[in-house]
Amino acid sequence: MIDYKKLAGKNIADLIPYQPGKPIKELERELGIKKAVKLASNENPLGIPEKAKQAIIENLHEMNRYPLGDAYYLREKLAEKLGVKKNELIFGTGSNEIIELLIRTFVKNGETVLSYAPSFSVYGIIAQAAGSRCDWVKMKEGFEMDFEGLKNAVTDKTRIVFLANPNNPTGTYFSEDLLVDFLESVRDDIIVALDEAYIEYVDAGDYPDSLKLLKKYKNLVIMRTFSKAYGLAAFRVGYAIGDAEGIDMLNRVRQPFNVNMLAQIAATAALDDTDFLRRSIKTNREGKIYLYKEFNNLGLKYIPTQANFILVNVGDGKRVFDELLKEGVIVRYLGPGLAEYVRVSIGTESENNFFIEKLKKVLGK
Ligand SMILES: Cc1ncc(COP(=O)(O)O)c(C=O)c1O
Repeated sequence: MIDYKKLAGKNIADLIPYQPGKPIKELERELGIKKAVKLASNENPLGIPEKAKQAIIENLHEMNRYPLGDAYYLREKLAEKLGVKKNELIFGTGSNEIIELLIRTFVKNGETVLSYAPSFSVYGIIAQAAGSRCDWVKMKEGFEMDFEGLKNAVTDKTRIVFLANPNNPTGTYFSEDLLVDFLESVRDDIIVALDEAYIEYVDAGDYPDSLKLLKKYKNLVIMRTFSKAYGLAAFRVGYAIGDAEGIDMLNRVRQPFNVNMLAQIAATAALDDTDFLRRSIKTNREGKIYLYKEFNNLGLKYIPTQANFILVNVGDGKRVFDELLKEGVIVRYLGPGLAEYVRVSIGTESENNFFIEKLKKVLGK
């Protein structure tokens, strides 16, 4: 008789799948309510850019054709905007696919990847699925990145180091000085995959100018996404910028039509919608100030963030998460390692108000 578990092997059978945030419609169905608020997946609360919407409608009739395998127009526009060469870019179905491509292309038998913890669980899931593993280096007090710890954890088997900056779920970041020091000290055949999913929200002055560093460090690969500040999470478009030869290798592994055509069209148009991007950043900044103020009033400690979410210490994260759900607010509980916290995405003004109102109720304040 067929034994699928055995066929998949221990790595796959032991995999704990990624836990996405609960969808709004699911909670509304469960609670029998009309309006739930989702602040769980670091999405853009403003909807999709108007220009993307228009472009999608105008091009819907062409969806009988296969997508452009090389994302020609998106590539051209993005290369110009970033000031990089077209062959230094690769697109994926979200930056998640870029993570997968990096691991499938470059991590061979017995090699491993490295990151700090807590960070984006997908690095570990994909590594394990590929028969490898992610070694996690615990962050320092206050969720600061421990670069000395990372350096010490590098072995001769380490192939990729994933550095989310700003980091998810902590919202903390590291400076250009720390990145340069790390790039200088690791072997130059280790890929340093800099995950900048939240870069558009950053306002720290010493945040790395990673595009500039690409010129000097051929082992640096930058990953970015249209899922956050560009408001296109459901379309699944992410990309990497890196050395042309490395990108060429990733391209050989990539499915020929990986990024669907509506997604390409939406992302290309979103690059032109500077007003949407500006409003997204402004809404996030204002929401952050408001939530900081309310957390301070409630005596709750939070981790200062450079992204569009805040990790806040509520005492009993699981209880607060469950109670908020019953009140129609979806936030994120991150498991026993962060038992005292919930992570809340920064929403619109009314969503943030609703969250705070319900949080006060749940905390009995
Ligand atoms: C640090 C980090 N990297 C990558 C992603 C993946 O984004 P996407 O696959 O939507 O581009 C996320 C999404 O939450 C993230 O937090």
